[in-house]
Amino acid sequence: MDGEGINQNTISDVIANVSAPDLDIDPKECVAPQRSDPCTIVIMGATGDLTSRKLIPALFNLYLNNGLPDPFLIVGCSRTKLDDLTFRDKMEDALSKAGTLDRSKWPDFAATLHYRVIDYENRQSYQNLADSLRNLDKKVNTQGNRVFYIALPPKLYISAAQLVGQAGLSAEETNGNGWSRMVIEKPFGTNLKTARELDRSLHEYFNEHQIFRIDHYLAKETVQNVLMFRFANSLFEPIWNRRYVDYVSIRANETLGVEHRAGYYEHAGVLRDMFQNHMMQLLALTAMEPPSRFEADLVRDEKTKVFQALRPFPVENLQDCLVLGQYGAGTINNDPVPAYRQEPEVNPHSLTPTFAMMKIYLDNWRWQGVPFYLTSGKRLAEKITEIAIQFKTVPHSMFRRTLGETIIANRLTLGIYPDETITLTFQTKNPGAVVCLRTVTMDFHYQQNYTGPVLDAYEKVLIDCMLGDQMLFWRQDGVERSWAFLTPILNECETCDDQANLLHFYESGSCGPQEAIEKLLKEENT
Ligand code: BG6
Repeated sequence: MDGEGINQNTISDVIANVSAPDLDIDPKECVAPQRSDPCTIVIMGATGDLTSRKLIPALFNLYLNNGLPDPFLIVGCSRTKLDDLTFRDKMEDALSKAGTLDRSKWPDFAATLHYRVIDYENRQSYQNLADSLRNLDKKVNTQGNRVFYIALPPKLYISAAQLVGQAGLSAEETNGNGWSRMVIEKPFGTNLKTARELDRSLHEYFNEHQIFRIDHYLAKETVQNVLMFRFANSLFEPIWNRRYVDYVSIRANETLGVEHRAGYYEHAGVLRDMFQNHMMQLLALTAMEPPSRFEADLVRDEKTKVFQALRPFPVENLQDCLVLGQYGAGTINNDPVPAYRQEPEVNPHSLTPTFAMMKIYLDNWRWQGVPFYLTSGKRLAEKITEIAIQFKTVPHSMFRRTLGETIIANRLTLGIYPDETITLTFQTKNPGAVVCLRTVTMDFHYQQNYTGPVLDAYEKVLIDCMLGDQMLFWRQDGVERSWAFLTPILNECETCDDQANLLHFYESGSCGPQEAIEKLLKEENT
């Protein structure tokens, strides 16, 4: 049957005004398409924040929703001397504090948790871990399948990956191993050169299909939905181009400050922290061409083409395309907050940007001449993540005499946070005798009519990694293209003589450095 599996409106439905049949999907089926093979998740950095705040809660929630394989083991590794029971207690405490502990299900889940002490840079320590994993495999029969989740500071990525490899744990289907995968979080290097070095080291023992580079933005439901929205509807794609789109705005604004991460952030700044990864992925999803099939490599091929099309920045005139800012003191939700330079462990003369707005062009047929404004900053007035497609105004207004020249153009907004919505604004007549227009919206709320379980970003990446699906992970060519675009910008920002002049200060709780933003936007209109 044509279109099998797709919810079809038949012509008689439409003509007889019968509403479309309901999709008959059990929400449980949406948690995972299938169970993965039995496996062990080895968490390097098990006493760290990421493990207790994100990984264990995500794994426990998957367990509650039957999303984990059977059998299944978690082995936490860290330098701290703990035993299995103390590790389980610590994790129980963390879940309890977060208010996500289902006590009736905890004991069974806790039994899958183990702990091994490791010295991250010591070869013998990894040999011991390998022996220990093989023994656990024999007892629980996880078939030698393993995910190594590197929840460590970036400076330990290379040694951890290499020592896992040297302990014989990366080779697949040999020596008692089944499949073997490595998960790493950003930053994937700090510029093009270090990103390549990191990759070379990872590839000494792991092949590309074994490496899972996480970008948690890609696992957000509404971010995944961008492709569904664009390519599962025939309505929008024909107007998704330079003929109809005036500009695109992609924003990821935060109210949080640097928190306790100054050690990392002082060197990263907003361009490495948000732009090299999350903002580039949002750009790619918005701008890419449809792949012929929804398969990891085909989707990632199309994303890479977007990065290839990025027009290099005129580094000699950075201010034409880039606004950098740093937050000063101010108030967030009525509470006073300190300036970035007064945050713990921040250099009081720091020139690290906490805000950036970029005007980007893509040199390709679809997007020639359309500016993409990418904005992200800390300590801004509200936390909001969204992609807005601003359409052009009507080419001619027949209402000119009564309404004047300006008719507000349509805008389509894909809300990612806090509103998981899709909103289309359009003009309509105001009711009444006088002819005048008003802007109204058509709204869709992502969770509307859905009552099934919702996967948090970490649950989704863990499931995909266990299933070996790399769709939502960065591929190295994309990482390199993104760095190739940003590295000259970073070099110029960090080494030029008037570095201080590039940085505009803004009050915490404001909308960023307004004057500089307006200047950038004005240049567009002149
Ligand atoms: C992280 C950055 O990758 O993303 C943080 O390191 C930032 O600085 C965070 O706060 C934002 O993520 P989210 O999901 O809260 O928008």
